[in-house]
Amino acid sequence: MEHVEIDRAGEPVIGTGAQTQGGKKVFVKTYGCQMNVYDSQRMTDALVADGYAATDRMEEADVVLLNTCHIREKAAEKVYSELGRIREVKREREKAGAGMTIGIAGCVAQAEGREIIRRAPVVDLVIGPQTYHRLPEALRKVRSGEKVVETDYAVEDKFEHLPQARRADIAKRGVTAFLSVQEGCDKFCTFCVVPYTRGSEVSRPVAQIVGEAERLAGAGVREITLLGQNVNAWHGEGPDGAEWGLGRLLFRLAEIPGVARLRYTTSHPRDMDDALIAAHRDLPALMPYLHLPVQAGSDRILKAMNRRHKAADYLRLLDRIRAARPDIAMSGDFIVGFPGETDADFEATLDLVRAVGYAQAFSFKYSPRPGTPGAEMKGHLPEKVKDERLQRLQALLFEQQHDFTRSRVGMRFDVLIEKPGRQAGQRAGRSPWLQPVIVDETVGEIGEIVPVRITRAEASTLFAEPA
Ligand code: 5AD
Ligand code: SF4
Repeated sequence: MEHVEIDRAGEPVIGTGAQTQGGKKVFVKTYGCQMNVYDSQRMTDALVADGYAATDRMEEADVVLLNTCHIREKAAEKVYSELGRIREVKREREKAGAGMTIGIAGCVAQAEGREIIRRAPVVDLVIGPQTYHRLPEALRKVRSGEKVVETDYAVEDKFEHLPQARRADIAKRGVTAFLSVQEGCDKFCTFCVVPYTRGSEVSRPVAQIVGEAERLAGAGVREITLLGQNVNAWHGEGPDGAEWGLGRLLFRLAEIPGVARLRYTTSHPRDMDDALIAAHRDLPALMPYLHLPVQAGSDRILKAMNRRHKAADYLRLLDRIRAARPDIAMSGDFIVGFPGETDADFEATLDLVRAVGYAQAFSFKYSPRPGTPGAEMKGHLPEKVKDERLQRLQALLFEQQHDFTRSRVGMRFDVLIEKPGRQAGQRAGRSPWLQPVIVDETVGEIGEIVPVRITRAEASTLFAEPA
């Protein structure tokens, strides 16, 4: 998943729900991956249904929720520094006679539980990703003066229990949407906390996914990105009684009127099955972009990471994917400085990157996570070595990304117009390969898919004129 440590407030959904909360307002700040962006939206929906209004200003919020990320140490530490700032805002509100409830959600909540309240007593509520459907109830308990910690792994289906957003609210969010189809991970890569914070792999049933996709499309959404920590491990029983994989599901979703574009993220190389590869060949709505993390290029390191494939397996898989969809843009995640990584191991990562040619990629310094096998391994590397390797890798990846965007100049293709551009008179859309494309506002309305010709590229952004 794209852990780019975004800091973004939950999109405001101005509520008209039964105002049972006396006009109380909730502010949600999201860290981490797209799954958290999606979850923040669902938490907001649950509270709006309970009578709250959403706000994007923390100062006016009665409830502040931080939806946190635990993937790397830096991400987790951000929560505590943010809590210092929030404490000040709360003090100001108290001076004015208003209160503020502070809740920690997400993977830090799941991993650290009650420890968060011990370390930061200003926190009233700790709630893990498997229990968001209990959020309104938990906030009621907090109001009666309790500190609440909800991190039990629930067998209940959180998808089932969360209320659906109203059509008007979805429409305000725009023409692209995330849809969670799978949660959790059974892969246990030795560096990763996800199997511990998100639990084991659970697939959402077909009928629920189709229902939500239909609601999104009905509210004007044109592009849906299916989400899962291991999205291509999704499987379920189709209405035909057969066992479906992600490929079959994508075909079904493409039948929904209004759904023009489909994407999915994040995938594991071991779960790229033939049907999914065939979908890239046969399903025009499936965009030619694939985020397929490999993490490292050395077989020794891949083994230590428990990735359960070799570098050559990944390259062979890519050959098959490219045979099915020659113009596919590849994206990936990389970790440098895993315990025991030698110069030669790191060179193997650079070799693999050169062999693949990525359109985009995310790369990180290894960060030991408590409770994972990697943290206990021998051969942890000095920060300086990790820094140096990260710099070299990122320079290469940046060059490849640049090559990719530059290679679009002069090409003609369809762009989905998503929103107003930063400058007056412009609109911003996306290419099939996910780059932002800036066009004049006369080129098309938001939600339209229009043919354009690319005139210029700047870092990762494209500029276009009508074709
Ligand atoms: N240290 C550094 N990067 C990590 N990732 C996951 N765990 C760690 C860690 N402990 C990276 C992987 C993964 C992405 C979401 O975050 O590259 O694919
Ligand atoms: Fe983490 Fe590996 Fe699972 Fe991805 S596949 S979530 S990196 S354990």
